Amino acid sequence: MIDLSVRLGRLSLKNPILVASGTFGYIREMAGFVQLDVLGGVIPKTVTRLPRAGNPTPRTVETAAGLLNAIGLDNDGIAHFIEHHLPYLRTIGTAVVANIAGEDEDGFVEMARILNEANGLAAIELNLSCPNVSHGLDLGIDPSAVESVVRRCREVGPLPVIAKLTPNVTSIPAIARAAYEGGADAVSIVNTFRGLAVDWKRRRPILSFDFGGLSGPAIKPLALRAVWEVSRAVPELPIIGIGGIASVDDALEFLVAGASAVQVGTATFADPTICARILSELPSRIEEMGSRSVREIVGTLRSNRS
Ligand SMILES: Cc1cc2nc3c(=O)[nH]c(=O)nc-3n(C[C@H](O)[C@H](O)[C@H](O)COP(=O)(O)O)c2cc1C
Repeated sequence: MIDLSVRLGRLSLKNPILVASGTFGYIREMAGFVQLDVLGGVIPKTVTRLPRAGNPTPRTVETAAGLLNAIGLDNDGIAHFIEHHLPYLRTIGTAVVANIAGEDEDGFVEMARILNEANGLAAIELNLSCPNVSHGLDLGIDPSAVESVVRRCREVGPLPVIAKLTPNVTSIPAIARAAYEGGADAVSIVNTFRGLAVDWKRRRPILSFDFGGLSGPAIKPLALRAVWEVSRAVPELPIIGIGGIASVDDALEFLVAGASAVQVGTATFADPTICARILSELPSRIEEMGSRSVREIVGTLRSNRS
């Protein structure tokens, strides 16, 4: 038997495969396709304090090797999440990580406080990294703001705090270090990369918001670089790797690069069962590596230069 369980600070998961926020709805929608209780965890779409309509359409466009989206945090607000979604999410048999976005630091802290009083969550993921709303990146690009919001969200209750970081900064390790100093149980790396799709005939951006966030296979090497850099710069900080994961090999690349767990996003649009397949293939791959647990392989990537 291969031990797939992982620990991210105070958060324990039965295995390292999670679904990423914004790509699996509020989970209920996917229950007809996926056996949810086999997953390591699920992360519903970001919720905000008040309902948001999101951006006008078009808000997604396919690119050569990825998806550009500017959904704009379309959601029904935290009260609706607690009343309507959480009772169902308590029954699905896996860890539920609520993902939140505040309009400012106080907004994050207020939502973290509310979620700490609601039963049934395993952790809170702070979306400090949405490129698709005005001011969505304000907090996440400033190390002192990241440290402060993480610290304050930890102080309001016992739920583990995961900081989801943007790659749209000069130094991701500097932001990760700030999250660690603030007491983050883990960081999720990465959210989408800001991009632009152009309709040259109309001389207009294709997306209504002009810019969007790029996800999918195109960003995998960029995300792997970020994960490895952070794992070497802040080795004490558990990492959840995200970016273009679509197979067990992709997941293993992130694990050896230093991620203790991974999230699968865009790939689930093409195949909602992808996470279950990755999970079924993971134990034999770990065995092939001569290991008995997923934890043994995390962060085992060695540089060719040393
Ligand atoms: C359509 C779409 C909507 C997304 N919405 C959210 C969101 O609400 N909150 C969030 O934290 N990340 C959101 N993301 C980002 C993903 O969770 C993930 O970080 C990113 O897509 C990179 O992973 P991937 O390449 O596996 O998709 C969204 C991504 C996509 C494609």
